[in-house]
Amino acid sequence: MGDSQKSSLPVRLGILLSGRGSNFLAIAESIRAGRLPGVEIAVVISNVADAPGIAAARELGLAAAVFESKGRKRAEHDADVAACLKAHGVDLVCLAGYMRLLSPEFVQAFPNRILNIHPSLLPAFPGLEAQEQAFAYGVKVAGCTVHFVDEELDHGAIVVQRAIEVLESDDAHTLAERILAEEHIAYSEAIGRVASGEWEIRGRRYVKAGNKGTRERGN
Ligand code: GRF
Repeated sequence: MGDSQKSSLPVRLGILLSGRGSNFLAIAESIRAGRLPGVEIAVVISNVADAPGIAAARELGLAAAVFESKGRKRAEHDADVAACLKAHGVDLVCLAGYMRLLSPEFVQAFPNRILNIHPSLLPAFPGLEAQEQAFAYGVKVAGCTVHFVDEELDHGAIVVQRAIEVLESDDAHTLAERILAEEHIAYSEAIGRVASGEWEIRGRRYVKAGNKGTRERGN
């Protein structure tokens, strides 16, 4: 999968979450509805024991695990999570509201195999409460980004972005809700593209494999 190799299906997802899990549920629904052929959820992992998302995973009959992170050293906690992902044969890690920075060791263990969703049009408004940041800044266009995870926060190569207009009638809450609806579409779209394996990363650009682009022809 990826790095311009053909994927070998199935592609097994490992979902990491900390909270309500609506992005996880949107991915699960895309799979159930047949919109992501060859993609399956191998395991859902939470770093918070009572996260609604992990309860939802159990209700769906999926493999679910909790590794509480509170009070633990990042590298040690991440090593447990990485071992669980490997034990479940995970090909692609999907951060879905995972409120924990990853150690460099974890990122290096899954090179170009970790996706994250962020509720802004990166590189604008990285970090926490991105929707509120965007609303307070007064942007006219907002949205969400699915990107590969590297060792910097909200930074890796962008796979999918979806934009919406900020309405006069919006407040920070309605804007966040409308961005969330786009997130639920964007994440499955990004997973489908990455799972196809027909892509490569040039510099920090995620591009279709074999697409040379016009600049390389000397324009
Ligand atoms: C989403 O807004 C996502 O972009 C951000 O955290 C939130 C998670 O929501 N990273 P949910 O748990 O998927 O409902």
